[in-house]
Amino acid sequence: MQNSRKVKIQIRGLEKSFGEKKVLDGVDLDIYEGESVAVIGASGTGKSVLIKHVIGLLRPDNGMVTVDDINVQDLSGYELQEFMCRFGMLFQGGALFDSMSVFDNVAFPLRERGVRDEDQIRKRVDEMLNLVDMDNSGNLMPSDLSGGMRKRIGLARALAPEPNIMLYDEPTTGLDPVVGGVIDRLIVRTRDRFHVTSITITHDIRSAYRIAHRIAMLYNGKIIKIGTPEEMRSCSIPEVEEFVADRTAHLENNLFQAGNSGFKGGN
Ligand SMILES: Nc1ncnc2c1ncn2[C@@H]1O[C@H](COP(=O)(O)OP(=O)(O)OP(=O)(O)O)[C@@H](O)[C@H]1O
Ligand SMILES: [Mg+2]
Repeated sequence: MQNSRKVKIQIRGLEKSFGEKKVLDGVDLDIYEGESVAVIGASGTGKSVLIKHVIGLLRPDNGMVTVDDINVQDLSGYELQEFMCRFGMLFQGGALFDSMSVFDNVAFPLRERGVRDEDQIRKRVDEMLNLVDMDNSGNLMPSDLSGGMRKRIGLARALAPEPNIMLYDEPTTGLDPVVGGVIDRLIVRTRDRFHVTSITITHDIRSAYRIAHRIAMLYNGKIIKIGTPEEMRSCSIPEVEEFVADRTAHLENNLFQAGNSGFKGGN
């Protein structure tokens, strides 16, 4: 593994049970700075549980997670709150505040972090709305927006405070394929423009092919395979084969990736 890039997120021997049920059973995963990793796996395999350990919402029974060499499981109280500011999170459904305009939604994390200069806020909100191709939508209310638009505004809001790690939980679930493609494109744009490190949880293999430098498959509490999209497609582990069986996805993906910067992940 010849990779001189810095490891941004390191997960080692991560174990987590809920009652009798062992959900994570020794997860090992390294994510490099600027890398986009998709975690795929069937429903209920522990993808969300895994990501919650990365931001410190859950504590491991065994094993560890480090982010920027900080041991996440050792943080508490104010330290943990500060730590969470490194992350932007795109929730399923967008999770907008319904009583606030689009502008105020995107401005929210800036105001929460103490930015008081309204000109500065406006400039940043406009930049973010432009990034997600939603210029001039600041006066709209969330109820005016389609599902795809809500996701775009959710992305603008997550990116406003310039996080250096983005977590996407099922960004395309519930969207039709065309709108899902738009969201994937924005994730790739974010990746390439801001060099954020990201983890995307998905069971949409097409989406994973489009947005990820590497794809990790979670099965039975472990990462059973991690590799580039090409490596996943040629993998002969039956569980992986079954999951990535969508044979047409790569054709579309080749078109999609054309022109994107060629990041070389590890492994
Ligand atoms: N706080 C909790 N308390 C008890 N059980 C939990 C808790 N969080 C998750 N679980 C269990 O852990 C397992 C994995 O859940 P998780 O939400 O990580 O799955 P997932 O892979 O994200 O699934 P999906 O694709 O449906 O979102 C499930 O069986 C779930 O019921
Ligand atoms: Mg989940």
